[in-house]
Amino acid sequence: MGLSSVSSNVITGFCFSGGSAALRDLCLMDEITQAVVEAVPNTPVTVKMRVGWDNNSIIIPKAGERLQNLGVKAITLHPRTTKQRYTGYAKWSYIKELKETCSIPIIGNGDVRTTDDMIKMFDETGCDAVMVGRAAIGNPWFFKEASFRLKGNSPYTAPSLIELVNTCETHLKLLIENRGEIVGSNLMRKHFSGYIKGFPGASRYRQSLVTASTINIMRNELVKFKNYAQNFKN
Ligand SMILES: Cc1cc2nc3c(=O)[nH]c(=O)nc-3n(C[C@H](O)[C@H](O)[C@H](O)COP(=O)(O)O)c2cc1C
Repeated sequence: MGLSSVSSNVITGFCFSGGSAALRDLCLMDEITQAVVEAVPNTPVTVKMRVGWDNNSIIIPKAGERLQNLGVKAITLHPRTTKQRYTGYAKWSYIKELKETCSIPIIGNGDVRTTDDMIKMFDETGCDAVMVGRAAIGNPWFFKEASFRLKGNSPYTAPSLIELVNTCETHLKLLIENRGEIVGSNLMRKHFSGYIKGFPGASRYRQSLVTASTINIMRNELVKFKNYAQNFKN
């Protein structure tokens, strides 16, 4: 189980997913949930979960009803089993089943790679909101595009290459501020592979940034990438 946030004015969210024993034991799930709900009486509590431990122990939609009765205010469902990890695919029909069983908001999650997938998830499951994980790695603009699609009032324009480089710079700066130079620059490598793709020359800059052996080399490579982006016609 993981605890996402506890505060008097933000939603307290906790998850029953990777490695959670509570997905094998509904009584334990009830106990943990009740303890959290009682510990923060003035704060809405939400749960994020998978469908069960394995294919022989699916607890959705039953667990949804129990959580709702214990006072949980919304549930996010990633419809894979714990044992599945990220293999196979997220079975969205469980999100639909959960939505039909519960009256609290249901947030669908899993395998939403594009905003078309997001619309499809809303249509197929009737969920109240969609949560996106991997699709936002290297593409924080996903949410802007999603907002344009949902409001439907103007076409979305993808970021220019220079905007992308500026975002990489800010991201690196914030990671270093938060985690220090060594950890921050190491963490940034996977983000560079997410950001730098889909334009001519991408593989060259991606390779040099992902493999930069020191923070100074990384910063120099970022300057080279920025120079390239400044002259790039989107
Ligand atoms: C880098 C990364 C970190 C994650 N951290 C958490 C976490 O702390 N708690 C959690 O419940 N899920 C976590 N997840 C799982 C996602 O929230 C999500 O359920 C899963 O990736 C499926 O959604 P997706 O197909 O949109 O990626 C994480 C996923 C990724 C890729």
